[in-house]
Amino acid sequence: RIPVWLDCDVGHDDALAVILAAHHPSFKLLGISSISGNVPIERTTANAIRVLQVAGIQDVKVYQGAAKPLVKPVYHATNIHGESGIDGTDLLPEPDFNRYFVKDVNAVNAMREAIMSSAEPIMVVAVGPLTNIALLVSMYPEVISHIKTLSIMGGAIGLGNTTSAAEFNVFCDPEAAQIVLNAGIQHVALVPLEVTHTVLSTEAIIKKIVDEVESPKFAQLISELLHYFGSTYRDVFGAKDGAPLHDPVAVAYLFMPESFSKRRIHVEIDCTTGPSRGRSHCDVWAKTDTDTNCWLATSVDIEKFWDHMIATMVVASKF
Ligand code: BDR
Ligand code: CA
Repeated sequence: RIPVWLDCDVGHDDALAVILAAHHPSFKLLGISSISGNVPIERTTANAIRVLQVAGIQDVKVYQGAAKPLVKPVYHATNIHGESGIDGTDLLPEPDFNRYFVKDVNAVNAMREAIMSSAEPIMVVAVGPLTNIALLVSMYPEVISHIKTLSIMGGAIGLGNTTSAAEFNVFCDPEAAQIVLNAGIQHVALVPLEVTHTVLSTEAIIKKIVDEVESPKFAQLISELLHYFGSTYRDVFGAKDGAPLHDPVAVAYLFMPESFSKRRIHVEIDCTTGPSRGRSHCDVWAKTDTDTNCWLATSVDIEKFWDHMIATMVVASKF
């Protein structure tokens, strides 16, 4: 099984990324780091723990990461995820910090330890602002050659979702994204909005999940979370077919890379303070004379993604 680390700011789609990363048979999930993003850090930490509990994941610990971006003030997405970060249901338990939270080790040190002590190179998936990963590669550059693949949910080739120029995860900490993309990790994959917006949690998908998972309570939880997420996407973006399930798509890249189409390109993050701050300039046609720094995902096999996603929910619902 591939050793994997998940860095996340648990909102609705991150919650499903936790389930996919923890229960996918090709992974050994080594740990989860929280990052400030969708909601403040204390809540993303608590939410990661709540999801582990409800999905019957016993042996994964949560480490708290950076409370704010490298340069900018904090920015959150409570308009999309609610005040808790995973609003829309009463079925999530109170977080069991004693069992899951390692309070004496910060996320960056925990990641370093996991990466350096792993017998084989590990894969990292980052589905929130990139502050923790930027600190990791800056403080401990020795980890860089030990990371086999870094998959990032972030950026957009075109329209942003937070400003017209910028996608949320990159907008929250553009300097961190720029550092991470250029750190020299051998395989960096960027899964942008254009790809995640093809993976919609439609009514038909929610029904399929409800039909397939065994526990009615778990089915209700997932249904409530995805309906809430869909409702804020409808209110904020006018989405009619449910919310895009962004973050699990970046997790899927690690176990089914052949199911993505991709291009090797240079991506430059706008770190200026103007209206384009946080824009991910994707040099798709190699117009600049710059070395490539990532694999830009351009499509995913949607059906195959859902097969894997739903299979892990079925496993999670058995606990
Ligand atoms: C990203 O922003 C967050 O709200 C989601 O969890 C996802 O990581 C999409 O832009
Ligand atoms: Ca996220």
